[in-house]
Amino acid sequence: MSTLTKVLERNVAEVEKRADLTEGRYRLGHHLMPPVGWLNDPNGLCWFKGKYHVFFQYAPFEVKGGLKFWGHYTSENLVNWKYEGVALYPDSPYDCHGVYSGSALVDEDKLHLFYTGNVKIDGDYDYINTGRETSTLHVVSEDGIHFSNKEVAVSFEQYPEEYTCHIRDPKVWKNNGTYRMVLGGRLKGDHGSVLFYESEDMENWKLTGTLTTSEAFGYMWECPDYFELDGQKILSVSPQGLRREEYRFQNIYQSGYFPMKEDGSVDVQDFREWDMGFDFYAPQTFTDGKGRRILIGWMGMPDADEEYTNRTIKEGWQHCLTVPRELKYKDGKILQYPVEEMNVLRRDRTSLKDEKGVMELCMGTDEGFDLVLDEIELKDGRFQVKLGGMMIFQYLEKTAQIEFHGAAGAGRTVRKAKTDSLKSLRILADTSAVEIYLNDGETVFSTRYYPDQEKIRLKISGGKFKGNIWNLNRMLFTK
Ligand code: FRU
Repeated sequence: MSTLTKVLERNVAEVEKRADLTEGRYRLGHHLMPPVGWLNDPNGLCWFKGKYHVFFQYAPFEVKGGLKFWGHYTSENLVNWKYEGVALYPDSPYDCHGVYSGSALVDEDKLHLFYTGNVKIDGDYDYINTGRETSTLHVVSEDGIHFSNKEVAVSFEQYPEEYTCHIRDPKVWKNNGTYRMVLGGRLKGDHGSVLFYESEDMENWKLTGTLTTSEAFGYMWECPDYFELDGQKILSVSPQGLRREEYRFQNIYQSGYFPMKEDGSVDVQDFREWDMGFDFYAPQTFTDGKGRRILIGWMGMPDADEEYTNRTIKEGWQHCLTVPRELKYKDGKILQYPVEEMNVLRRDRTSLKDEKGVMELCMGTDEGFDLVLDEIELKDGRFQVKLGGMMIFQYLEKTAQIEFHGAAGAGRTVRKAKTDSLKSLRILADTSAVEIYLNDGETVFSTRYYPDQEKIRLKISGGKFKGNIWNLNRMLFTK
């Protein structure tokens, strides 16, 4: 181990020693968060030798983001998590300005991680066309905890001419014995795009093609993912630079997917956003030991400080990941729903009746709850769930929306989604995060929120439904 690695290791251990994952009003009960400092994208998601591995973009020294490491959680059941410490340090000439995002491939009993090493050259550069060197790096592990030396899989010098310096976030998979990789990119002229590579040995990678849209759909596509779901080929990307609209692209950056056509092309008309809430970006998927395609997203948003002050900054940490969501493909859309393992956290069920068309109950905000409403029949086309005076979910005239009132929104106001119907609703609420699933996950809103009352009145009104609500135990976090 180099002296630099040792120094970084010691310093991370020092700041983490003081961190307590259960201390703080807004520390979460069933969402993965950083021990200390800042978290962004989920990385290297996989099922390896009987364990789930969730790595994440981690800036332990700076709560508002900074030098990126890979933090690491493992779990056997998606509800009890062990924090394994930092897996990758920015300690090589190829990643000294950040161990950026990437993915995992389990192959022949080994865990391979591919990621972007970020290097910024000192000087008068724009860091778009010049001044940045981002190579694709590769490490291997036998046990999922200790990793080999870093090897360069694709050096920054090998990327095609027509691209700026912004090429990153490898997603790697294996298909018919060939290793394949997709990278996100920014073409010169501000045009988001992806690059496809293949390899026979994971060492020598050949560019096989690039994919974009005829008119620019944003200037950069970050964090691409490629997978097949029930026979449909899907390309997921996180575009930056789309113009905001009332019902679409409401956040500063987006993430969504294209169902790919037979000829391998994509059409902007088919792009569907993964999530309509305030906090969702850079998701990644993987297949687990049960054959499920699972998605985890970053429940946060880059560069959003102007509109929002995250209240957990005061507690010395920022952001979390979504709960793992199982994906299914139905009628041209992907449904996302919390993995069934989340149900083991449920306790104290209350069944809900809608006899008078209004139902009220009181919930504590120091732990999570899980509200499930099925067979909703609307009266007057409107349905509402109020979470105290601070947050309202509403469905009216084919529009679903969440809105904040007062301090709980920390600067946020409203997010909307066009949705033809409302048949079922699930609100998975944590101490400072809410995920709302409509129609079995056809539309999802994910958002952080900051309740400032110890108890809130939950008021459900607008029609008939069958329902249950549970309090949720906290997931177990061990170090
Ligand atoms: C997305 C992203 C990635 C990059 C990483 C750096 O949020 O910008 O493109 O690899 O974060 O932390």
